Formats: sequence, C-alpha cells, structure tokens
Amino acid sequence: MGVARRSCTRPIQLDLPLLACLVTVLGVCAARSEAPRGVAVPFVFDPSATCDPRCQHAGICIRNNTCFCSRGYEGETCQYATCYPKCKNGGECLRPGKCRCPPGFGGKYCHKVKCDTGCWNGGDCIAVNGVAKCICPSSWTGSKCQEAICPQGCRNGGSCVAPGICSCLDGWLGGACHMAVCHRPCLNGGKCVSPNTCRCRPLYFGPRCEERKMY
Ligand SMILES: *[C@@H]1O[C@H](CO)[C@@H](O)[C@H](O)[C@H]1NC(C)=O
Repeated sequence: MGVARRSCTRPIQLDLPLLACLVTVLGVCAARSEAPRGVAVPFVFDPSATCDPRCQHAGICIRNNTCFCSRGYEGETCQYATCYPKCKNGGECLRPGKCRCPPGFGGKYCHKVKCDTGCWNGGDCIAVNGVAKCICPSSWTGSKCQEAICPQGCRNGGSCVAPGICSCLDGWLGGACHMAVCHRPCLNGGKCVSPNTCRCRPLYFGPRCEERKMY
C-alpha cells in the first residue's frame, strides 16, 4: 500500500518508470480513489478509456476524454508545449524549453534583443518600444550604422565613405569634393569651375581663357 501510494502521488509528469507504475498498481490507485476518507489520488486510470481527439505528445488517456500529459506539455489533449521560464516578448513555445522568438528577439527565452543584421561600427542593439534598433555612434547612421556621416557634405556626386571622408568623382577634389580639377590650368585669372572648364575674367575667352577680346 505504501509503495503504491507514494508512486501514485508523484507530481504530474510522465516517464517510463511511472508508466510501469500506472500499469502495475492500477488496481490500487483506482481502489484508493474510492476510499471513504477521500485519500488524495491524482487520477483514476481507466484502461478502457477513450480520448477523442487523441492525447498528443505521448500523453496517456486515463479517463474518457481526459489526457495525462507527459512532462513539458499541457492542454486538454496535451497540445501545448510548456516552456519554463516562459518565452518572453511574444515568443512561442515550440517544444518544452524551446522558444521561437519574434523578429528582433533572441536568446533561449527570447529575453534578448537581437538586431537581425547586427549593428556595425560600434552601434548598440536596444529595444525601442519593443522593436530592436541599432543606436549608432555619432559619426555613423543607417539601420545598422552602415553609413558614415560627413558633416561637411560630399558635393558633386561624391560619397561619404568614412566619417568626414568623401570619395569624389573624377574631376573633383577637396574634403567636400568642392574643387573642380582643370588638367590644364585656367589662364589670365580664369577660374576652374567644373572639371576642365574655366570661367574667364572679362575680356578673356577660350577653353583656358588664353585669348583676349580685341575692341
Ligand atoms: C467511456 O466511453 C466508452 C465509449 O464511448 C463507454 O463505453 C464507457 O462507458 C465510458 N466510460 C466511462 C467511465 O464513462
């Protein structure tokens, strides 16, 4: 009797030894549930019970339409996996202890913020209103801090390739690609205003301002 009672009042979880116990002490468990003093017995196992729909995830049908779930599952038909600790941030428990995390979260319990493509250039991944975002150092921007910032601007088609560094198109130079290059210098005070293009002072003309108008 003592052995049976100890076995039958184990916590609600299933493993092979317990299954063996259920079968071997079945009569005792059932009998005890009818005991006049109402001795606590977790369940009555009815070997002819049928469960429809069936018990899932190796749950056992112990009474008509009553499933006894294996460890890690719950629900009427043991359809739900349980995760301890619970999946955080809207994560879904796929199987015991295994959470599927929504985008932007990671870690065993979805408790960590995750920026899918990472944060580059020293950016930090943090949650802003439940959404993972990269917080970038001051000289970088973009969803993953992939874009450098050139405070001076990059003009004339130049692009900012590193903080403060412009890469210029052919024919332009300078920190902001603001200086045109004239391979042959402009003469007579003319100014190089775009690649190989001189703007001449009054009275001068020609590609390099090399000619003077005669009046
Ligand atoms: C369980 O269901 C079966 C079939 O529906 C039925 O014959 C049986 O009497 C039921 N058992 C109990 C304990 O209700």
